[in-house]
Amino acid sequence: MNKEDLQKRAEEINRILYAFLPEAGAFDERIVSAMNYSVQAGGKRIRPMLMQDSFHAFAEEQDEPKILQAFMAAMECIHTYSLCHDDLPAMDNDEYRRGNLTTHAKFGEAFGILAGDGLLNYAYEIISEEMTHLDDPELLKKAVNAYCVLAEKAGFRGMVGGQSLDVYLDQTGDADTKQEHLEYIYENKTSALLEASLMIGAILAGADEKEVRTMEMIGKNVGMAFQIRDDILDLTGTLEELGKPAGSDERNGKKTYVTFLGMEKANEEVIRRSEEARILANELPYNTEALTDIITYLMDRDS
Ligand code: IPE
Ligand code: IPE
Ligand code: MG
Ligand code: MG
Ligand code: MG
Repeated sequence: MNKEDLQKRAEEINRILYAFLPEAGAFDERIVSAMNYSVQAGGKRIRPMLMQDSFHAFAEEQDEPKILQAFMAAMECIHTYSLCHDDLPAMDNDEYRRGNLTTHAKFGEAFGILAGDGLLNYAYEIISEEMTHLDDPELLKKAVNAYCVLAEKAGFRGMVGGQSLDVYLDQTGDADTKQEHLEYIYENKTSALLEASLMIGAILAGADEKEVRTMEMIGKNVGMAFQIRDDILDLTGTLEELGKPAGSDERNGKKTYVTFLGMEKANEEVIRRSEEARILANELPYNTEALTDIITYLMDRDS
């Protein structure tokens, strides 16, 4: 897999995602514009992609149920909301994202907050609306399980929890920050949504509990590698390549794996975590090639 393949896949995901995006009514044009702007600004669409590939690894039939597509769209809405809020002046205070102005820079701070809030709630609306049309009780049960995973991994025991310790340590000067703190932050702010993506695809396809736990472990490793690579790119990339400002971490005085371990060891950790994820995926008695291809691509991505 190369960058072009990934972009083609992202376009396929966009076709699914955009079909779920809201249309503006009489008085909600501003909020709907801000929400759709944030989603449509770009993005690699890694999370829905991994969810889709996880589903196909476990599914007997290759037809995609609409509920899978609803979860894929919802996941990208939740991820995009996390970025809208991450970029706010109260957090990383960044002006560019996905090659465009951040939502708060384009629509003002209040709409940076509200667009995130709107996307978070809309994500659950997309899924629950789709659930009301499910008449296969087995699939409905799987969807409810997947819904629980999403809610937990996106919330204070997941992404929000990681972001919280991240900003709290910044606010308190983080002199005593240890690698364990960073590990907690990364496993939550970044791994949690990747874990959920892989777990949800597997759950909807009928994977058993042990297999779902394996997908969670894969997600944990992919997330750690992904965030450390993100830290590296923050130092080595450019605004043009990344679509978001380089040097954001340094400007915010953030401790990262690179400040802790140095560039070389941080890079080794990206390789080690990615390899761990690939081994776990290869051990499954299913075709996980599409998944391992993405994991390999992400290891040395430049955006
Ligand atoms: C950015 O995620 C936030 C991190 C977890 C590092 P992505 O790198 O997946 O951002 P997009 O969706 O491609 O813009
Ligand atoms: C944030 O990590 C991850 C999120 C949950 C949004 P970063 O703050 O490093 O993400 P970028 O570099 O702004 O995309
Ligand atoms: Mg941040
Ligand atoms: Mg940030
Ligand atoms: Mg970053």
